[in-house]
Parts: sequence; structure tokens; C-alpha cells
Amino acid sequence: MTRLSVNINKIATLRNSRGGNTPSVLEAAINCQKFGAQGITIHPRPDERHIRRQDVLDIRPIITTEFNIEGYPSEDFIEMVIAVKAHQVTLVPDSHDQLTSDHGWDTIKHMDFLKEVIARFKAEGIRTSIFVDPDLSAIEGAKETGTDRIELYTEPFAQLYPIDPIRAVAPFKEAAILAHKLGLGINAGHDLSLKNLRFFHDHVPFLDEVSIGHALIADALYMGLRSTIQDYLSCLQ
Ligand code: PXP
Repeated sequence: MTRLSVNINKIATLRNSRGGNTPSVLEAAINCQKFGAQGITIHPRPDERHIRRQDVLDIRPIITTEFNIEGYPSEDFIEMVIAVKAHQVTLVPDSHDQLTSDHGWDTIKHMDFLKEVIARFKAEGIRTSIFVDPDLSAIEGAKETGTDRIELYTEPFAQLYPIDPIRAVAPFKEAAILAHKLGLGINAGHDLSLKNLRFFHDHVPFLDEVSIGHALIADALYMGLRSTIQDYLSCLQ
């Protein structure tokens, strides 16, 4: 079964554009879970342009599913994730001012750093996932870091999918087969949507979880959050 973790960053972006607390990220997280999402993902960034540090603390007690926190593992970030005891941490190689994650880790180059950070999370009982491109040597490197899972960066799939779906999905299928053989769990995310999710799910084996934000929240504007989440869940059956 592939689980759906809803990334609620965009709710925070909308809230922050006006000050105040509308729409509430807490309410969004509660409702996503009520409507069937099996996880909540947030990505607190150092500039707090969407999810703020305080949100991380406020959301924690209402999580009844899986709490996944994404981010670059700065010392601040590591301490925050450990303090709130997230279920899963997804490490991304983002720079401070990056608009959104747009590449995976070079797991060979950053091996020592990743090993050290991952060991700290694992000592606290927090599952780790590292964001990678569907690159076989990066996945072999990921195995060596000691991570529990990888998250495949799916934007290249989403871009090529309308033109050549089979070619778009091929590297992800191969990456998932290798990761599974190495004993790694497999997550995926970025630019997955109602247009491409079912195809991705049907062609990429061993998929544990997808984390979806932008398209899902945009769809919810027209279809409502309940119906949108149900549609995404149905793509994963
Ligand atoms: N996974 C990671 C590591 C991300 O940074 C993001 C975007 O915050 C996502 C998944 C979700 O991407 P999208 O918002 O395009 O669904």
C-alpha cells in the first residue's frame, strides 16, 4: 500500500500573505487526516516564508497519522525535528534561499555528513529518508549512509510524462527496483498530481509513500479538500 502524505506548506503561504491565522495550518492538518491522508508533511525553511518554527510545535500534538518533516539538516533543523519527535525526517540538499527542492543529494560527495546526521536521527528513533534523483549510483550511496528510505525527486518524471510517459517513468522504476533490492524504503514527491499519479504508482514498484503539496492544494480550491484527497487516494489503489 502506498500512503499519501499531504504537504501543507501552501496553506501556510496563503496564511502568511495576510498575517493573522486564516487559513489555519492546524485546521488543514486536522482535516487532511480526517479526509483520509495517511500523513502530514511540512517543510520549515530558515526564512519561515511558509511553515514557521511555531507551526512545527503547534501541529505536533494534533498528528494522528505520520508526521514527516522535510528540510536541510542544519543544526537548528536537526534539534527541532528531534525535539518534536517527528515520525520521519526527509533530508533535502536545499540552499537557504531555494524556491523549492529541485535536485537530490550527491550521496557520494556528502557521505560523511549524511552518515553523521542520519545516525543522530536514528538514535532518537526517527525514520530517515533522503531526497535523491533516480540515479543508481546515488541510490547505492544512499544505502551506505544508513538511511531507512529514499525519496525519489519526481519533477523530471512530471515534465516528461505528457510527452512520453513510458520514457518518463523508466528511470524511476529502475531506481525503485534497485532501492528495494538494497533494502531501502521508497518515497516519492514533487509535481505529482491527479494527471500523473496513477500512472506513476502503477509503474513504480515498492512505493511506500508519496508526499504531495502544490497540485493537491490547488485542486482543493476547485474540488474541496475532502473530495481532492479522496481522488488522490484512489490513484494509489
Ligand atoms: N518532496 C520534497 C522533498 C519537497 O521539497 C516537496 C515540495 O515542498 C515535495 C515533496 C512536494 O512537492 P509538490 O509541492 O510539488 O507536491
